[in-house]
Amino acid sequence: MDAQLKPDLTPLGPRSALEPDSQLRALNRLASALEARVPGSAGHARRVAFYASGVARRMGFSRERVARLHRAAALHDIGKVGTPAAIVNKPGPLSDEEFAVVRRHAAIGAWMVAGLGDDELVAVVRHHHERLDGNGYPDGLAGGEIPLGARIVAVADTFDAVASTRPYRAAKRCREALELLDGEAGAQLDPGVVSAFRDYFAGLPAAAAADRRGREIGQVAFNG
Ligand SMILES: [Fe+2]
Repeated sequence: MDAQLKPDLTPLGPRSALEPDSQLRALNRLASALEARVPGSAGHARRVAFYASGVARRMGFSRERVARLHRAAALHDIGKVGTPAAIVNKPGPLSDEEFAVVRRHAAIGAWMVAGLGDDELVAVVRHHHERLDGNGYPDGLAGGEIPLGARIVAVADTFDAVASTRPYRAAKRCREALELLDGEAGAQLDPGVVSAFRDYFAGLPAAAAADRRGREIGQVAFNG
């Protein structure tokens, strides 16, 4: 792999010069700017945050934990700033080497948000691509070793990625996306979270209406 694609992830020190609130605003703007690189991905992070916080509410999280998960979910892919646009936008399947570059975004993202001073947020960003069966990345955590917030973001992220158009795939409809979540329950995804997502999603009126019309549910459920 090109050595230039390996970022230096040594800690920045106790805190960067910016206060956490200022860092959060800057990081959110960066997350939006990053989405502009990929056709069809605009609003992905905001939708994942919307879904993840809705599921967390359904699972009985306190208001404060819901708000913190919303913040974490909105920044889950911030580490893609380290992924070249040519790889992010590649229309065909990735080579092993390219996929290795993509996988680095989880650790890079965790490094980027460390200055916000919220360990749970850092853990969600780092572990949102772990799989329940232990075959995910970056640490190969399995089952309950994966922080619950990261398991929730994984379900929301998978749903929105499937339900929205990407360079390599047309959008699938809501029902197919939900069926895909069911198929991954117990392997990639936490079955309890998938079940909570289904309950939560069924309660979104815009989602049901959009599915009847066969529109792209990822956009419609969030934007109305
Ligand atoms: Fe990701």
